[in-house]
Amino acid sequence: VIDIGALYKHTGTFTYDPGFTSTASCESKITYIDGDEGTLLHRGYPIEQLAEKGDFLEVCYLLLYGELPTAAQKKDFDYRVTHHTMVHEQMSKFFSGYRRDAHPMAVMVGTVGALSAFYHDSTDITDPHQRMVASLRMIAKMPTIAAMAYKYHVGQPFVYPKNDLDYASNFLRMCFAVPCEEYQVNPVLARAMDRIFILHADHEQNASTSTVRLAGSSGANPFACIAAGIACLWGPAHGGANEAALNMLMEIGSVDRIPEYIAKAKDKNDPFRLMGFGHRVYKNYDPRAKIMQKTMYEVLEATGHGDDPLMKVALELEKIALNDPYFIDKKLYPNVDFYSGITLRALGFPTTMFTVLFALARTVGWIAQWNEMIEDPQQRIGRPRQLYTGEPKRDYKALSER
Ligand code: ACO
Repeated sequence: VIDIGALYKHTGTFTYDPGFTSTASCESKITYIDGDEGTLLHRGYPIEQLAEKGDFLEVCYLLLYGELPTAAQKKDFDYRVTHHTMVHEQMSKFFSGYRRDAHPMAVMVGTVGALSAFYHDSTDITDPHQRMVASLRMIAKMPTIAAMAYKYHVGQPFVYPKNDLDYASNFLRMCFAVPCEEYQVNPVLARAMDRIFILHADHEQNASTSTVRLAGSSGANPFACIAAGIACLWGPAHGGANEAALNMLMEIGSVDRIPEYIAKAKDKNDPFRLMGFGHRVYKNYDPRAKIMQKTMYEVLEATGHGDDPLMKVALELEKIALNDPYFIDKKLYPNVDFYSGITLRALGFPTTMFTVLFALARTVGWIAQWNEMIEDPQQRIGRPRQLYTGEPKRDYKALSER
C-alpha cells in the first residue's frame, strides 16, 4: 500500500501491483495451484491422476460442472459435444478471406470471434441453459475450426468431423486425413493428443483466462470473450512459448551449443530467455511438464522418432539448467511448453499450429471460468485503477500560442 499523492486524495487506499503478482481478481472453485510444491488440482483432483486415468471430455465435464460425471452423464455429455462439432458452411468463407500464409492463431482469433455472428440463440448470458449451450458449442467446434485453420495453412481441403470418433481422434482425422487416401487414427497418438488437451485444460487466473473474465465482466458475447482469450494466449510469454521453445531448440541444434545459450539466458544485457523455462506461479517443477515429458517419449516411440536429436538437446539443456546456480536461485524449472513442442512436432503439426492446439484445449477452462464469474454474486465489471504519473492539471493553449 503506498501514498500516491494529491491527485488521488479522494479515492482512498490503492494497491499498486504491476503484473498482478499478488492480487486475487476473483474467488474460484475450479483450479488450485501450489507453485512451491508443484501441485495442480482441478476441482480437487491431481492433474497426474486426471491425465493418467481420465479423458479430456471427462475433464471438461469436471471443470464445467464441478464433479466427475457418472457413466450416464459422461455418455450424454460426449453425445452433446460430438453432435455440435459441425460449423455452418458459411464459416468456410471466412477462411478464404485470409492470406494463405496467415498465422493460424490470427485465423483463430478472427474465426472464433465470428462465431458471435452465427449463434444469436445462445447469447443471453443470464440464462444458464443458453450459457451451457454456448459452452458446449465452443468446446465442440474448437477442434473443427482449429483443424480448418490447419488445412487452410497447408493448402488442403477441409475434412468434416466424424462424430463416431472420440474427441482427439476426430481432431487428428480432421487435420491429417487427405482425399482419396485411407486414414486410420493411431490409438497411441490419439491418447497422447487427448492427454495433451487435459494438460492444457485450465490453469486458474493466467493472462488469457483473466482476459476472458475481464471481457466477460462487461456482459460481452461469450464467443467474442473466447476470441479475446485466444488473442492473449498468442504471445510468446504465454501460450506462444511452445512454438518459441521448439524454435529455440532447433536454433541450438546440438548439445555442444547449449552452454552458449545458457550464458545468453543469464546475461542481463541480452533479452534472450530459455523458452519453456520459468513460471509466474510454479517455483518448482511444473507437474504438467513431467507428464508432457512422458507423453513425448510415447509419441516419439510410436512415430519412430525415438532418437530425435532435439529431444537430446532438450534433456541435456534441462540437466544443465537445473544444476546452474542462476536457474536454481531464481527457481526456474521447465514448464508445460518445454517438451510439448517436440511432442506436437512428432504428432505431425508445424510449429505455427502449437498455440492453436493450446487454445483448443484451454477453451474449456476459459468457458468454465466465464460461467463461474457470471454465477458469482460478487461479480462486477472488471475495472482496474492506475497510478497516474502524467502532467498535473493545466490549461489548454490555443494552437497559435504553442
Ligand atoms: N530464462 C532466463 N531467465 C529467466 C527466465 C527464462 N526463461 N524466466 C525468468 N527469468 C529471470 C528473469 O530475467 C528475472 O530475473 P531478475 O530477477 O534478475 O530480473 C527472474 O527470472 C524473474 O522473471 P520474471 O520475468 O520477473 O518472472 P515473471 O513471473 O514475470 O515471468 C515468465 C514468468 C513470463 C513465464 C518467464 O519465466 C518467461 O519469460 N519464461 C519464458 C517464456 C515461457 O516459457 N512462457 C511460458 C509460461 S507457461 C504458459 O504460459 C503455459
